[in-house]
Amino acid sequence: MSVITLANTKGGAGKTTAALLLATEYARQGYRVAVLDADPQKWITAWSEASGGAANLEIISQVTATSLPSLIREMRNRIDFFIVDLAGARNALLGTALGISDHVLIPVQGCAMDARGAAQVLELLEQLKMQCGLDIAHSVVLTRVSSLVTTRALAAVKAMLNARGVNVLETPLNERSAYRDVFEYGATLYNADPIAISNLDKARDNARTFAAEVKALLPRKVGRSIPGYSLPTWRRIRAA
Ligand SMILES: Nc1ncnc2c1ncn2[C@@H]1O[C@H](COP(=O)(O)OP(=O)(O)OP(=O)(O)O)[C@@H](O)[C@H]1O
Ligand SMILES: [Mg+2]
Repeated sequence: MSVITLANTKGGAGKTTAALLLATEYARQGYRVAVLDADPQKWITAWSEASGGAANLEIISQVTATSLPSLIREMRNRIDFFIVDLAGARNALLGTALGISDHVLIPVQGCAMDARGAAQVLELLEQLKMQCGLDIAHSVVLTRVSSLVTTRALAAVKAMLNARGVNVLETPLNERSAYRDVFEYGATLYNADPIAISNLDKARDNARTFAAEVKALLPRKVGRSIPGYSLPTWRRIRAA
């Protein structure tokens, strides 16, 4: 199981949107996915109730910093991707969730560059490294990038973060109304009505590329759970 945490203590950076896109994309590919909905606004829980959920996708709505480690242990053998959607605030769950993550994704709005919330997460990751010896892989993902933001401006933001030693994903999450609409209509990018939601193809392409890039950053232990096999691929390879 790989744990991916979406963290930015600034509200509205795009954590919940990115979490749902990753979760629905991996579930669609046949992986077993769980989302820990630790956002007090519970958007993903509400989305799941409205949509009836999706195959291979389980939503966990209640957890505390104390119960998280045992939840992770319980899920380890039956889930491929465990995705944590945190609150846009600094709270007790933040440090615990970062500490159990294989990769921390820090969404930052590409246009606003109000990166204070991102800086707090980066500081906490640095503290975990210095004080606990925990070196947790992490990347910034630029979100809500509109066609008005030039390639040059994006490259400048990436270069600035790279210069501080922060990895920035090649794939930004573009500003797409489809990403709002899936919450509103209780749909996924794959079962949504193309008449009600515009530019679904572009939204799907962007989400797929984003999910593939994130997957490539994870330690090589995620195997697709193929029906008929009791163990995911990587475990079968290791067991062989
Ligand atoms: N790529 C995008 N395209 C269009 N709208 C987006 C995109 N990303 C986020 N939004 C919208 O921006 C708002 C904030 O996004 P989201 O809820 O994902 O942020 P968050 O970091 O989870 O916020 P919070 O800290 O309050 O939990 C929402 O209305 C969402 O629909
Ligand atoms: Mg949220």
